[in-house]
Amino acid sequence: MTDDREQDFQNQKVDPKLWKRLYGYTLRRKQLLIGNLIAMFLVAVCDVLYPILTRYAIDNFVNPGGEPSTTGIWLFAAVYVVLVVFQSYMTMTFIKRSGDIELNMSYDIRQEAFEHLQNLSFSFYDKTSVGYLMARMVSDITRISELISWSMIDILWSSFYIIFSVIAMFIFNWRLTLIVLIVIPPLAVISFILQKAILKYQRAARKQNSRITSAFNEGIMGAMTTKTLVREKANSEEFEEISTEFKKASIKAQVLSAVFFPLIISLSAIATALALVLGGAGVSATLGGTETFIGVITAGMLVSFISYASSLFDPIQNLAGIFAELQSAQASAERVVGLLDTKSDISDTKEVVEKYGTTMNPRKENWEPLVGDIEFRHVDFYYNESEPLLQDFNLHIHPGETIALVGETGAGKSTIVNLICRFYEPVKGSILIDGKDYRERSELWLQSNLGYVLQQPHLFSGSIRDNICFGRPDATEEEIRHAAAMVHADEFIERQAKGYDTEVGEGGVRLSTGQKQLISFARVILANPQIFVLDEATSSIDTETEQIIQNAITTVLEGRTSIVVAHRLSTIRNADRILVIRNGGIAESGTHEELLEQKGYYHDLYMHQFREESLAQALEA
Ligand SMILES: Nc1ncnc2c1ncn2[C@@H]1O[C@H](COP(=O)(O)OP(=O)(O)O)[C@@H](O)[C@H]1O
Ligand SMILES: [Mg+2]
Repeated sequence: MTDDREQDFQNQKVDPKLWKRLYGYTLRRKQLLIGNLIAMFLVAVCDVLYPILTRYAIDNFVNPGGEPSTTGIWLFAAVYVVLVVFQSYMTMTFIKRSGDIELNMSYDIRQEAFEHLQNLSFSFYDKTSVGYLMARMVSDITRISELISWSMIDILWSSFYIIFSVIAMFIFNWRLTLIVLIVIPPLAVISFILQKAILKYQRAARKQNSRITSAFNEGIMGAMTTKTLVREKANSEEFEEISTEFKKASIKAQVLSAVFFPLIISLSAIATALALVLGGAGVSATLGGTETFIGVITAGMLVSFISYASSLFDPIQNLAGIFAELQSAQASAERVVGLLDTKSDISDTKEVVEKYGTTMNPRKENWEPLVGDIEFRHVDFYYNESEPLLQDFNLHIHPGETIALVGETGAGKSTIVNLICRFYEPVKGSILIDGKDYRERSELWLQSNLGYVLQQPHLFSGSIRDNICFGRPDATEEEIRHAAAMVHADEFIERQAKGYDTEVGEGGVRLSTGQKQLISFARVILANPQIFVLDEATSSIDTETEQIIQNAITTVLEGRTSIVVAHRLSTIRNADRILVIRNGGIAESGTHEELLEQKGYYHDLYMHQFREESLAQALEA
């Protein structure tokens, strides 16, 4: 999956609009930006003034061909010192400001990306690996912020400096200036060709680098699986191959860079030499030599002219360098912007947001109370277009009804649950809650009225307490403890060193699946929603605790609509209706007794799967 996305980005062209947008982030801190604009203007002015001072010193104090003099040398020295101090101060301020811009920018983009990621639907996460997202969030955003905030300085300084020094050169001697500027077009062409090649390899290196991060991540996260499947060797080989590719591309980029810079330096040396030879003739004219087409130039003028000419290539190289960096960071930039622009498959329409508000700002005054009537109307659904799952699926669940879904693994039970929770939406047809398509109401409206405990329970980073009162932030300590006690979660929670304040870690990695399910149960019980969804909610909980939970839920489920996917008969038996899901459709439907009488699939399933279980229970009793 990582590869596909990387490939997509590889084929994209460099996009100035994209960079305009990213540079636009600096506009958010106008003060910093304007401060830097002024600072760079002044720094460039100082840089352009130095050669003029030099010229003055040579022509007045040294005065070649005339009498040297020291009149006014103290004032001159004072001006020089003031200029140096002033420029140093300006430099200091822009360094500080650029650091601030960088920090603010990466903060802003991260914040935006984070909020955006939270709103993306499950289907996005189906297609995207966590390693890939981490690489994007961390390294890409850091890289882009750094590049933009510091290149801004170079762009400003270089542009100011080029403009000012070319003007100064023209004023000194326009003919000589034109000759020096002749070198610029070949310089630009060579830069362009070589840099493109450098970029190609840098990009390749980056791509491999991103794969390394991803492989690293998967290697670590999947270490257990790897070990169980004895795949260490194969994994290491794959990793080595990626690393070798990375090395090859990096070396090529380095070799080209090594050729590039001496070429540029040689070209600028040619320009300086030209100015020196032709300008030298101009100076000799002042000393009685023959005048050439360059005209007459004083020694001071020539010295400062040459210092302009030779330092003119600095900013040009600078700009070329930034251009190169922008190009090589193009992929990162595309990934960052791509991430910010990823459209969620599931999002509330404008009208819905207007009425029901957003996640951050819900307008609860407009929320209708939820009754608990759920209807699938001609629903088609698939995760991948090539594997249709539900086709013209119809189901009406009445308020207060308990529905049990049974069927083999992969039959589509969790899919139906996902659709009810609106983690996914129907591809065709609609799902109605209380008679209205759920897309006409906000996602939050549904999800705050719906409690779910899933096969793979998800905890949010934060403490156990945060996780339990997730749906009811206003719950009291007593209510939280009561909810936990109802599902026997209190025992293991109190055994933790920090009790309810124990951090569950990212994704709750430090707890077992069963413990996570218990916390999810406590959360649901505390939230006391109108619709309950339990998808193999007790699959990782021991039989004894399950029984306790069973009793707790029976009380809570009273009068609520509930959809239960269970792998144990005891949970199902009392359901109002049992649906046998096969091949993405309802194969049989009825109460436990009715279905047994039908002697169909449920009957067989019961005989094979559940008989042992009920036998065991009967023996226990
Ligand atoms: N996120 C997903 N992306 C692609 N296919 C999926 C996804 N989730 C489930 N499937 C596929 O959909 C089918 C039904 O899965 P599921 O609803 O989880 O079955 P059940 O819960 O009954 O075991 C299976 O073939 C499964 O591989
Ligand atoms: Mg399932």
